[in-house]
Amino acid sequence: MEVNKVYLGDCIEIMKTLQDKSVDLVFADPPFNIGIKYDVYNDNMPYEEYYSWSEKWIRECYRILKDNGTIYIAIGDEFAAEINVILKRTGFYFRNWVVWYYTFGQNQRKKFNRAHTHILYFTKDKEHFTFNDKDIRIPSARQLIYKDKRANPLGKIPDDVWQFSRVCGTFKERIGRHPCQMPEDLLELIIKTSSNEHDLVLDPFGGTGTTSAVAKKLKRNFITMEISKDYYNVILKRLEGKLREIKNKIEIEPEKQKTLIEVVG
Ligand SMILES: C[S@@+](CC[C@H](N)C(=O)[O-])C[C@H]1O[C@@H](n2cnc3c(N)ncnc32)[C@H](O)[C@@H]1O
Repeated sequence: MEVNKVYLGDCIEIMKTLQDKSVDLVFADPPFNIGIKYDVYNDNMPYEEYYSWSEKWIRECYRILKDNGTIYIAIGDEFAAEINVILKRTGFYFRNWVVWYYTFGQNQRKKFNRAHTHILYFTKDKEHFTFNDKDIRIPSARQLIYKDKRANPLGKIPDDVWQFSRVCGTFKERIGRHPCQMPEDLLELIIKTSSNEHDLVLDPFGGTGTTSAVAKKLKRNFITMEISKDYYNVILKRLEGKLREIKNKIEIEPEKQKTLIEVVG
């Protein structure tokens, strides 16, 4: 199977062409079905349609994952419960319901500002999966604050609430005007935890290509898919390291430049 490849097209159709049990890690950040304005994708499906579409792509992920493979799905409040159920019904084993607290929540008018996204972490096997705890340990409070001699000198495994800033419009890391670019640090934590060098990391919803860019940096193989030609071209450039050429290249028509605040506020 060809790896280190970016596909242009529908992820379900493309995944159907991939071999069974060939992928080590899937990270998926699908459209959340909350009316975000992507350039070609309609993020406003009727409830049943979004549910059965989610079942279809999650089933394909299950088929292509190795028996010791892992999946993480980022999802908003609106469908987190449904995606959790679909993952269980597909046959995956639950490990963590991570909350990504993104600090820079967008201001709302008539409710509390939203400052989190869910990251559902599941494995295909209950006991056999990659979890590189030594690569992700952080200093514990016992070490840092209490100077407790009983503290594990290797530090502790991070908690299940992760704090990373969103990639806001003005950030250096930001690539063009894609509405949902993920921070590289978050992908780094996931990829280091749940894969090893030369493993295959797959992201069905490429966006700006964050997963593949981080996988490449960490010496993993990658495959990604993107339905929009503009975003697809951005991913190719990003992976070639031609960031200057693509900054601000994803232009969205002004009336479509609605942000999360206008959509879910
Ligand atoms: C939430 S964004 C992913 C952002 C990505 N994690 C990043 O860091 O840039 C979802 C992406 O999925 C794409 N998409 C939507 N439906 C798709 C499909 N059926 N197949 C492939 N890509 C799709 C959208 O165009 C959008 O760019």
